[in-house]
Amino acid sequence: LGCPLIPDVVLCFYHFCKLVFFLSCRYVSKTAAQPVSEFEYDAPSMKTPVPGPKSKLSPPPHSLFISQNVGAVNFFCNYEESRGNYLVDADGNRMLDLYTQISSVPIGYNHPALMKAITNPNNLTAFVNRPALGILPPENFPEKLIESLLSVAPAGMTRVQTMACGSCSNENAFKAMFIWYKIKERGASGPSAEEMSSCMINQGPGCPDLSILSFMGGFHGRTMGCLATTHSKVIHKLDIPSFDWPIAPFPKLQYPLEQFVRENAQEEARCLEEVEDLIVKWRQKGKPVAGIIVEPIQAEGGDNHASHDFFIKLRNIARKHGCAFHVDEVQTGGGTTGKFWAHEHWGTGDPADIVSFSKKMLTGGYYFKDELQPDKGYRIFNTWMGDPSKNVFLSEVLNVIRRENLLEEVTRSGKALLQGLYELQAQYPHLLSRARGLGTFCAIDARDDVTRDNLILKTRDKGVLLGGCGEMSIRFRPSLVFKEYHAHQFLNIFNDVLAEYK
Ligand SMILES: Cc1ncc(COP(=O)(O)O)c(C=O)c1O
Repeated sequence: LGCPLIPDVVLCFYHFCKLVFFLSCRYVSKTAAQPVSEFEYDAPSMKTPVPGPKSKLSPPPHSLFISQNVGAVNFFCNYEESRGNYLVDADGNRMLDLYTQISSVPIGYNHPALMKAITNPNNLTAFVNRPALGILPPENFPEKLIESLLSVAPAGMTRVQTMACGSCSNENAFKAMFIWYKIKERGASGPSAEEMSSCMINQGPGCPDLSILSFMGGFHGRTMGCLATTHSKVIHKLDIPSFDWPIAPFPKLQYPLEQFVRENAQEEARCLEEVEDLIVKWRQKGKPVAGIIVEPIQAEGGDNHASHDFFIKLRNIARKHGCAFHVDEVQTGGGTTGKFWAHEHWGTGDPADIVSFSKKMLTGGYYFKDELQPDKGYRIFNTWMGDPSKNVFLSEVLNVIRRENLLEEVTRSGKALLQGLYELQAQYPHLLSRARGLGTFCAIDARDDVTRDNLILKTRDKGVLLGGCGEMSIRFRPSLVFKEYHAHQFLNIFNDVLAEYK
């Protein structure tokens, strides 16, 4: 090697040792080819810790706004400068966004297809006028729904009801299930005079003691009805009156899955047995279960998965006991698991009676089977019942998903992300465990909640935004334009954070 004082063999050995040392204590993710995109940045770029001085919350005028919600704001954003997978904050920090506004950005920030849609003169009236859709829908609204929402309807669902947000969708889906249940029970006869008078004073039989069965760890929203089925965090529920509705245990799977096949199957069987017991108990109590609600992956509750077999059996239990089966795809829907709906992974042609959505779908709402159509107008109703301008954007999002094969991209980048997480948990077993995921809908557990929160903050200061869920999980919720390249960018940065973590 040209140095007269050190023999080549010693130098070679030295370099070999350096390499072994390097490989044994640092994870270095492969870099994938950077995708060609005119509208995106190529990397994070940090100028200050986050929140930076411009995001600091104390002086006015920010403090005036913040007085609404002092505990929750992370930092202020510059949406004009944000592009694709990168969110820019008020201080000019550019971060790779793996949290995407609580999982609600379908194709990244300022996507050219959406920018174009807003300048198309044919779309202007949809943005300027917000109709009361329940009574005065635009004449082309049915065709627009066929083009957008109904083109991705889940198997067996012929109808869709739009709404504003996730909670509003679930809340109205519950009402649809109760109405369906009572119509089924009454048969041909209409409601009695007693039912009509008692409902006006919140009493039975007009306000019947029906219930919805939900799962421990589930999250279905924060309005009063939804909250009775939400069991993920105390802060959502404390001080709010609720219903006496049954709550079943959700399977707690042990990882790695291939090592715990028997234990996990037993755990799922235990939970299903409990579901049936609860349905029987609540019927005996005079509060029959009209519907069962479940997320295909419990998201806010900690990214808790169950097998496809579990969900198919649960669906069968609902059918057997005459309960409607409501699959809440507010967080899992829209392509993030590599299929358009997470329930498609179950591989059944009759997955549900109701599927609710929001977030990446840009509009809220729910699909439902014909028999859940209420018998009269105004039974499921509110002023706006959605927003046609969101439907314009959704059509464009669906075009981009199809044109750019984004579901395949999600499967590919999700594999790279999950593989990287497996490698990191093998390298840092004292910090990380239980890497899991479907598509890019991935998560990993930290050793405790404090470590989880610290890892998220340290990673943010290095230019990647992450979210937490459950007690100690980190969740990954990139948009559908997240590529392998971005997965490796994140993995390298996360590795640096882990390597420095005491
Ligand atoms: C599965 C699920 N259902 C319902 C909701 C409630 O949606 P929103 O916050 O839009 O009311 C959420 C929100 O995170 C969710 O993840």
